[in-house]
Amino acid sequence: MKPLTYERLHSNLLLLKLTTIEQILDNCLEMAAKDGKTTMEVLDHLFEQEKRYREAAAIERRTRFAVFPVRKTLDNFDFEFQPSIDRKVIEDLATLRFVHNAENVVLLGPPGVGKSHLAIALGMESVKAGFSVYFINAGSLIEKLKKANREGVLEKKLKDFTRYKLLIIDEMGYLPFDEEGAHCFFQLISKRYEKSSIIFTSNKSYGQWGEIFQDNVIASAVLDRILHHCTTINVKGESYRLKDRRKLGLQTGKL
Ligand SMILES: Nc1ncnc2c1ncn2[C@@H]1O[C@H](COP(=O)(O)OP(=O)(O)OP(=O)(O)O)[C@@H](O)[C@H]1O
Ligand SMILES: [Mg+2]
Repeated sequence: MKPLTYERLHSNLLLLKLTTIEQILDNCLEMAAKDGKTTMEVLDHLFEQEKRYREAAAIERRTRFAVFPVRKTLDNFDFEFQPSIDRKVIEDLATLRFVHNAENVVLLGPPGVGKSHLAIALGMESVKAGFSVYFINAGSLIEKLKKANREGVLEKKLKDFTRYKLLIIDEMGYLPFDEEGAHCFFQLISKRYEKSSIIFTSNKSYGQWGEIFQDNVIASAVLDRILHHCTTINVKGESYRLKDRRKLGLQTGKL
């Protein structure tokens, strides 16, 4: 190859933003000559690598935008530890039909049983499949909505939150909502209803959601919409955190 051809090839690859091909080209051509690969095979390998790199970069970008507090996967969820969870139901959710159909998922149960873990893992599956996902704690969601309401930009904020194909609202029920918060929350649920999915986690059973909203009328209007198309997973059992503490021999008997 003439030096000029070499230079032009590399510069064109960069110009066309084929950066992975540009990086692996020399090595790949060297290996291909050694292994007697055809031109077609070399081109196929180069473009396949470029595509894979771009897909991985897009997944990483969407994962960062989703602001998961930690990264959790279904692969590292121990289903044997939590027999109250039907593995088949989770595997069915992992097909993401619920996201396609704008349905909801609610994970209910006491602390430490894996509600947030499963919510994040389903969120990460959705990110991999190309959906936009956003994770938020219920308390900070309410604070954001109330702030927007006071600044007269609630409609815009609600629109921002309806952009995501999947919204994960974690820890419903640890802190009750005041009247303004409950009102804003209801509007968000109405806006997303039958358009896009939400995963909720909560330590409170549906019967106790009135306490979260401090208003039974709003609670039942919210639940009516959420539950219309919804899979509920009731997790019972021991906290995984407790198991970890036991393993370390740190259990004090108080918890
Ligand atoms: N079955 C499990 N297999 C593997 N790890 C688990 C399992 N259940 C929980 N964990 C881990 O235990 C920790 C606590 O789980 P998680 O945060 O999901 O609990 P939670 O139900 O959301 O509790 P809380 O109501 O207190 O928020 C996390 O680190 C999670 O990854
Ligand atoms: Mg949690």
